[in-house]
Amino acid sequence: MKKTRFSFSSGVTDCYFDGAFGQLKRLADPANTLVVTDQHIYKHHRSLFTGWNTIVLRAGEEYKVQGTVDALIEQLISLKADRTTTLVGVGGGVVTDLVGYTAAIYMRGLRFGFVPTTLLAMVDAAIGGKNGVDVGIYKNMAGTVRQPAFLLYDISLLSTLPMAEWQNGFAEIIKHAAIMDAALFGTLEKRTLPFYQQDRAALVALIARNARLKYKVVRSDEHEKGNRKWLNFGHTMGHALENQYQLSHGQAISLGMMTAATLSEHYLGFAALDRLEGLLARYGLPTRASYNLKKALSVLRMDKKRRSDSIQYVLLQKIGKAAIHSIRFDRLEKQLAKQQ
Ligand SMILES: NC(=O)c1ccc[n+]([C@@H]2O[C@H](COP(=O)([O-])OP(=O)(O)OC[C@H]3O[C@@H](n4cnc5c(N)ncnc54)[C@H](O)[C@@H]3O)[C@@H](O)[C@H]2O)c1
Ligand SMILES: [Zn+2]
Repeated sequence: MKKTRFSFSSGVTDCYFDGAFGQLKRLADPANTLVVTDQHIYKHHRSLFTGWNTIVLRAGEEYKVQGTVDALIEQLISLKADRTTTLVGVGGGVVTDLVGYTAAIYMRGLRFGFVPTTLLAMVDAAIGGKNGVDVGIYKNMAGTVRQPAFLLYDISLLSTLPMAEWQNGFAEIIKHAAIMDAALFGTLEKRTLPFYQQDRAALVALIARNARLKYKVVRSDEHEKGNRKWLNFGHTMGHALENQYQLSHGQAISLGMMTAATLSEHYLGFAALDRLEGLLARYGLPTRASYNLKKALSVLRMDKKRRSDSIQYVLLQKIGKAAIHSIRFDRLEKQLAKQQ
């Protein structure tokens, strides 16, 4: 098993990018491990769980709440999990967040690892050690920072992933390319989503590269360079739209990236809006929508990144280079009104 080691100040994670689910028993002892997954993954891949003590959660963001964590903890108690038990989250970002958080607090911390099963979890959610739950309308409001012992990737799990979930993953991949990897951006422009679905080696390489990009940002942020904010590219307006309209996360941040890129033209002379638009469209993501600007702005004003009368916006200087720019709300409103 080829291993890549990610080192954080909060711990070390061993990544197996070209792995297979069957190798899990080399990373965790089946006799002293609890596997946690959700009902969709369990339905599609039931046979994988044979021989593993498995807890199956209901699927969906609405279950990423403290109540699920409490129920999980009660199950851990009744299954006699102790400090020597390993917890393994097999799933998308909802499962990895729930399991990472539960493992961090149960008996003040158990060993845990992830087998990410969505493209988004593989390139984003499983990496960085921030895990938590939503509280009411507030996403990821309570949680912990703790690194999984291992990340085991099995690309074949993606064979059952719905198209909309592929697109969610590609929205984050395009985000990574736009903020910090111009060469990757160029590669994506030449390829397509069906190409990656059919070319195993290319997909494994794409996922490993993106996992490393996320690691690099999280790691550099530990040295207080503030780069982690870059990962919010497209997410400021994206979240405002995701809450208001029936959009997937990928669709919402695609529109958010277009908004940020248009602001980048104005504030930083960004000159590749057409390339970003073309790439998002190439991967099936929306680039234009009419929305209620006043409502969106009122959500932005409540955003975490708000600083009194201005907002810290992640913009692009050029493809592959992000920059944080402080924009006053009144100016932002003017600019966005022009875009409408
Ligand atoms: N901790 C972090 O740093 C971080 C970063 C990004 C996102 N997140 C979190 O991740 C979550 C989103 O993750 P997600 O997009 O993976 O969502 P998800 O976990 O809800 O998975 C999406 C859907 O796909 C299904 N699914 C998963 N794997 C499948 C497979 N192989 N085949 C068929 N269906 C499958 C799930 O059951 C679910 O219905 C959000 O809660 C978000 O806050 C966390
Ligand atoms: Zn996102």
